Amino acid sequence: MPGTPSRLSSQSSSISETDHGPGRSVKLTAGPLFDAPQGSSKIMPTVTVDGEKSFEVEPGKKLVLAIEDAGIDIMHRCGGNARCTTCRVEILGGDPGPQTEIEQARLAREGDIAPNIRLSCQIRVHSDLWVAVINRAGARGIPAGPRPAD
Ligand code: FES
Repeated sequence: MPGTPSRLSSQSSSISETDHGPGRSVKLTAGPLFDAPQGSSKIMPTVTVDGEKSFEVEPGKKLVLAIEDAGIDIMHRCGGNARCTTCRVEILGGDPGPQTEIEQARLAREGDIAPNIRLSCQIRVHSDLWVAVINRAGARGIPAGPRPAD
C-alpha cells in the first residue's frame, strides 16, 4: 500500500522501508533476510570414516556410537568402559579433544602407541573429525560387544 511502511520479508527480517515521501529512502540494517527453520541453527559436526563415508553427528555424541549408528562395523567389546581398547580409532584429522584420565591410563598400558590412536568410546564429538576404524567385528568373526551407554 503506497505511503505505508511495509516489511520486505518475515517478522525477523532486517530490511524495511522507512520513508515513502519524495526522494524516498530505504533503510537497510545488517542481519539475516530469512528466519532459520526451528533447530537449524545447531552446528552438526561431520565425521568422516576413512574409506567409508561422512555423516553428521549430534554434538556431544560418543564417537563409537556415531560410527556404529552410521552403519559402520566397529568393535566395542567392553561396552565403552575403556577396558578393551577394541574401539580404538586413528585420528587422521580434526580435534577429538583431550584424553580423559581413564583413556590416557588405559592406552599407556598398551605400550608404544601412536598419539593419534584414541579410544572412540571416550571421545565426544564436538567438531569435524576424520578417523580410521582399526578393529572390525566382521573381520574377526565375533560380536562387536555390548552397546556403550550414551
Ligand atoms: S575401550 Fe572397550 S569399548 Fe572402548
